[in-house]
Amino acid sequence: MKHDVHIAHISDLHIAGSGEGRQLQDLDRMLEYLNVSGYDHLVISGDLSDRGRTEDWAIVKDKLVRHGWYHWERTTVVAGNHDLIRLEEEMRFYNAMNPLQGLRERACRQRAESFCRFFRELVTAGDDTEPAFPFIKVMRFPAATLSIVACNSVHAWSPTDNPLGARGVIDPSELRAIASPAVRKALSGSFVIGLCHHALKVYGTDRLLDQAFDWTMELKNRDDFLQVMREIDARVVLHGHFHRFQTYTSGGIEFINGGSFRYASKRFSALWIAEDGSFTQEFSDIPL
Ligand SMILES: [Fe+2]
Ligand SMILES: [Fe+2]
Repeated sequence: MKHDVHIAHISDLHIAGSGEGRQLQDLDRMLEYLNVSGYDHLVISGDLSDRGRTEDWAIVKDKLVRHGWYHWERTTVVAGNHDLIRLEEEMRFYNAMNPLQGLRERACRQRAESFCRFFRELVTAGDDTEPAFPFIKVMRFPAATLSIVACNSVHAWSPTDNPLGARGVIDPSELRAIASPAVRKALSGSFVIGLCHHALKVYGTDRLLDQAFDWTMELKNRDDFLQVMREIDARVVLHGHFHRFQTYTSGGIEFINGGSFRYASKRFSALWIAEDGSFTQEFSDIPL
């Protein structure tokens, strides 16, 4: 009899239509494997779609439904930059219309709202609240109570500040909401997991070319994010974006990068949380 809560974490699927049969087959196999292996909860940390298409979200939703994962207590998803930003369109539109940055930011926020509405059943547990970021899930499992605190870290495209659309920011109002006394009270006594798409640390090298690239991927207000994660006593933070399976510690919190399902579709991160609040993590491969 198991006494731990088992969490599986995948990221960056970058689904590009239903033509990519092999990747979709692998997704079937992954979800099936997680089922038979007794995983309690699945986290997908963004970039479900490659080109910001709702049709790709529908493909993921359909797979989750078919394998019995499409339930609030079974799966949590957040959006990535590829879900909310259509880079080619942004550039074309910008060149043609040169819209105000404020409008662009509003459009990106609205897209995040449609993401939450699309995956409504995974965000709001069936009540009447409007699904939106940030959202908090407090889930009671036999071994432990688990909270997931999910933020949107996607930063609107900008020709100067975010030319690749890959830079992240978490809206200060989201961080304030998470740090509020009401949320902290709701989280008390549970094992707290932070969740967003962007990495706290983008590991580059000393090469100037890499450093020049790093800023285009970074989470701009990472210090504020880390501060809030510490305030709510998050034990781990799950993310993706930087397509690399890795773990690192910052401010006493373990950060886990779920890599990319698109490029390594057998691999996932496994997190076991014990009754006493201790946890272990490893990257695991599903058997061929
Ligand atoms: Fe990605
Ligand atoms: Fe990303």
